Amino acid sequence: MAKRYKVGVLKGDGVGPEIVEAAIDIFGTLDLGITFIELEAGYSYYQRIGRSIEEDFFSKVRELDAILKGPLYTPPHVREFKSVNILIRRELNLYANVRPFKSFESISLKNFNIVLIRENIEDVYVGIEGRYKDKAVSLRIITSEGSRRIAKYAFNYALQRGFNKVTVIHKANILKETDGLFREIFYKVSEEYPNVIADELIVDTAAYTIVKNPGKLQIILTPNLYGDILADLLAAMVGSLGLCGSAQIGENIAVFEPVHGVALDIAGKGIANPIGEILSAKMMLEYLGQRYSDNKLIKISEKIDEAVHIVIEKKRVWTPDLGGTRKTSDVVHAIKQVLIELLDVS
Ligand code: NAI
Repeated sequence: MAKRYKVGVLKGDGVGPEIVEAAIDIFGTLDLGITFIELEAGYSYYQRIGRSIEEDFFSKVRELDAILKGPLYTPPHVREFKSVNILIRRELNLYANVRPFKSFESISLKNFNIVLIRENIEDVYVGIEGRYKDKAVSLRIITSEGSRRIAKYAFNYALQRGFNKVTVIHKANILKETDGLFREIFYKVSEEYPNVIADELIVDTAAYTIVKNPGKLQIILTPNLYGDILADLLAAMVGSLGLCGSAQIGENIAVFEPVHGVALDIAGKGIANPIGEILSAKMMLEYLGQRYSDNKLIKISEKIDEAVHIVIEKKRVWTPDLGGTRKTSDVVHAIKQVLIELLDVS
């Protein structure tokens, strides 16, 4: 009997509920064997209930195969409200943040296919900071173990997906200890992968290269903070934050969410681009398919990718972030139509 999957759904804040529902709507047309289980956390949950994450969140997660998530709001002006994203990453040990950036014909600024792999737990995101008189201090932690684990993930990812180069991004010329360690471990790990080229770029040059010559890059491996920043630059090169999805991978579970934030300026208007969430859901099917050797899920994930490209490149169903006038629901409808055709003929 085919496996049934349990997927947690955390709709999140701002545009989160609209785009997560859009992705699940697309799943509704497909026979995937997935049961969705609602999870609650975030700023709107905090405003309603007085806590940032439901009490039994992590015990519910133990029963799940994956989580599909919308963005969560961390208001900078509410000092006592700590990031739930960081809490989830740390508690579930989601050490690898994988963000594919593939250009779309007639939307993207240049032609490229880059996957950013970001260490997802360490760096300044350990959240150890303080104010001492007139000084504010933040601790940056990079460990050998964390650096080794993410470097191995990047090289394995390259091998599995047919890439032949991994470029480590750092500022080891200045940060000789922290970035120095990240870089050093990268080159050590690279010796185990003689068929993959190990390359490096200083983070500022990386920003320049992404805009000027993105075709030169394949897999880029970054410590946490640089990855956060370069991802938005890459999203701009793709054409919109609303077009980019991501996976956060741990040993036992993975969480899939768009690259963008809560987009409060357009929340509730029905015009959010759902593609980033849909591509995250597509990555989730690929993850489940590989983990449980379920070829049907892998095949459907490929068809979702194809349908997204047809809807954006050929049918040009564009939300306002792409310069169009179409609504979230129009994009969902168009993708469903194309998917039905693609799955019928195959
Ligand atoms: P943002 O990504 O929310 O928005 C930046 C710009 O991109 C805005 O103009 C927005 O309208 C547009 N945009 C984003 N997603 C879009 C979509 N799907 N369709 C169309 N346009 C879209 O970035 P911002 O404003 O810096 O972040 C707001 C808050 O979001 C942050 O303060 C943070 O709390 C949260 N955030 C959460 C993340 C997560 O849960 N993984 C990631 C990043 C930010």
